[in-house]
Amino acid sequence: MITYNDAERIFKLDTPHTSYIFGIDDDFGYLIHYYYGHKIRNDIDNARYVSRLYDGDILPGVNTKDKNSFLDFAPFEYSTGGIGDYRSHALEIELADGTTATELQYVNHKIYKGKNPLEGLPATFGDEKSVETLEVTLRDPIIKLTVILSYSVFADTDCITRSARIINDGASPVFITRVMSTTLNLENKDYNLLTLHGSWARERHKEFRKIAHGFQGVSSRRGESSHQEHPFMAITDKNLTETQGEVYGFNFIYSGNFVAQADLDQFNFIHAEMGINPYNFKWKLEAGDSFATPEAVMTYSAEGLGAMTRSFHNLYRNHLIRSKFLHKKRPILINNWEATYFNFDTEKLLSIARDAAALGIEMLVMDDGWFGNRYDDNRALGDWTVNEEKLPGGLKYLVDEVNKLGLKFGIWMEPEMVSPDSDLYRAHPDWAIQIPGRAPGLSRNQLVLDLTRPEVWEHTWHSIETVLKSANIEYLKWDMNRQLADLYSAGLPADRQGELYHRYVLAVYRLQEKLVTTFPDLLIENCSGGGARFDPGMLYYSPQIWTSDDTDAIERLSIQEGTALIYPLSTMGAHVSDCPNHAVGRVTPFKTRGHVALAGTFGYELDITKISVEDRAQIPIQVAQYHKYNDLVREGDYYRLASLADNGEYDAWMVKSQDEREILVTFVQVLNHPNFKSRTLCLQGLDPQKTYRDCESGRNYGADTLMYAGLPIPRSWGDFKSTLIHLEEV
Ligand code: DGJ
Repeated sequence: MITYNDAERIFKLDTPHTSYIFGIDDDFGYLIHYYYGHKIRNDIDNARYVSRLYDGDILPGVNTKDKNSFLDFAPFEYSTGGIGDYRSHALEIELADGTTATELQYVNHKIYKGKNPLEGLPATFGDEKSVETLEVTLRDPIIKLTVILSYSVFADTDCITRSARIINDGASPVFITRVMSTTLNLENKDYNLLTLHGSWARERHKEFRKIAHGFQGVSSRRGESSHQEHPFMAITDKNLTETQGEVYGFNFIYSGNFVAQADLDQFNFIHAEMGINPYNFKWKLEAGDSFATPEAVMTYSAEGLGAMTRSFHNLYRNHLIRSKFLHKKRPILINNWEATYFNFDTEKLLSIARDAAALGIEMLVMDDGWFGNRYDDNRALGDWTVNEEKLPGGLKYLVDEVNKLGLKFGIWMEPEMVSPDSDLYRAHPDWAIQIPGRAPGLSRNQLVLDLTRPEVWEHTWHSIETVLKSANIEYLKWDMNRQLADLYSAGLPADRQGELYHRYVLAVYRLQEKLVTTFPDLLIENCSGGGARFDPGMLYYSPQIWTSDDTDAIERLSIQEGTALIYPLSTMGAHVSDCPNHAVGRVTPFKTRGHVALAGTFGYELDITKISVEDRAQIPIQVAQYHKYNDLVREGDYYRLASLADNGEYDAWMVKSQDEREILVTFVQVLNHPNFKSRTLCLQGLDPQKTYRDCESGRNYGADTLMYAGLPIPRSWGDFKSTLIHLEEV
């Protein structure tokens, strides 16, 4: 709900448990932030003092309303550069005359039910009952620049989304050199900063640091959201737990370069910002043109990290992921990547499909290596015609045979790329992003196609469409295996080269949009060398994303924990793979691999024709578990109960159905230690009055006992052992 107090000139945005308050400054007409946090009552004028902007003079006779001291402290809703605010700015503009001063003053606002889409960008949505939007128009009358700040508030989750539109009303072009999607000012209470860091096969591990004076944060300059840092940060209580402590969470609905920073200033206020990374960004705004930022999400929890997670999950399940598969059980797939890598043919795939069908698996996914001259990763990206040596009879023959076995068929493509050793590159070397006269850096022996050029985009779309229409293909794994470098587009003039990073992301979004509208029945799984583009932007187009190339069950505990910190379990691609695991060489029980993969979309990635009789016998059991529990896992509320990253020994999580009738607890004992008694695991988020029965032992527990005394977990003999405990309300 959004209210505006006309007399006080204050806006108040309420979600179920939070309030966000800002207003218009009387002296200069600036938009000033007052408060964000636990919900407070409606007398919103009371919140003004929180900004400290209206404190008396610090020393008698010192004028704190002197414009420069005011600017350098004022908690702006959207700060600008060049006028005496020496902190980081939401917006920086360069004018034709080389000056940068920009000063925004309130003009007007409107409040409406619902939410408008952000053209060309992924964004949250909602109907008139579930979301309300405030648009505040600000203007610099001297340089004739208008900024419209949009705030959307959700009725069913504690999230607020923000974006900005910059409009050049002047007669000459201007350049945007920095443009944030959201900012937040708040007093530091000895807060920590939580971010997610990683690497290939090690994505999204939690990391806390104390917020110190100066700049801190995370960013990507890689052209994608990246394995290395994630477009997320949270400002947290230093004594944060899953159930206690304050958390301000930020997430960016964008798949390219980003910054997420929390700077601590001289007055002990944190200045948080999230937006497109200004690195190599310079956007020319012609007279009359406008630029829309991607959307950022903010959430506040006064009840620990778990509540932040569930707010994000609810937002993304109800207001971001559009796929018709979102609320459906996805087919259990078997992917041949770890089974064969590039070394397969029709007969090999059919042998996998035959065994898979007999064990209850529902879809075969053919991964990299089926096209052109693709016998290894040195060649052929861009040549999207079937390799008839490997697949005699072509794609249609293979797909028909797989379908005859009762399996669906899925395919892998990496549409954004081209190998220098490919027919496509030989025909169009200028289609790759590279700088004329400079040898480009290769990564995985490939280059990125310049999708910002219409002819390249059209060709790429045509390739995707042709493949998908050539047979009964029901699933697409869209991969992206290198990051951008050597930035130059033959399609852009010199003064627009700074637009390439962002234009590239927009072009990818256009391709994905075309894909979802042309093939509405296609299940899409995005992927980027594992999970380098696991972000809310891509979730707008695909209901699931490959989480990591590390499929080891133990490594996956931290990767999936970090991913599920923000994203629903239903979005995490997770497979049972072979051992020794291809990423770490670890051997874990087949059962544990199954339990960990059940927390995601679930599938297999191994040569089913070669696994042991014992492992094979477990597949029908896991398939049955998937069918039994997936509705609960996909739709339920997720709670982290123990984190391997914190305790070094075990990991546990639970999912509670929305009607609270069912609970599934997963416990993984990573390392066993001698001579200890059994454990107890305290559950969370239950109504203490309810009683639950352990479906296996038949034992009844009061929900209060489960939460305060804990669920007994017998010790297992050996390492890497896991248990599933299914509880039903009595
Ligand atoms: C990276 C993906 O994450 C893998 O699953 C696999 O598809 C390879 N690319 C294929 O090249």
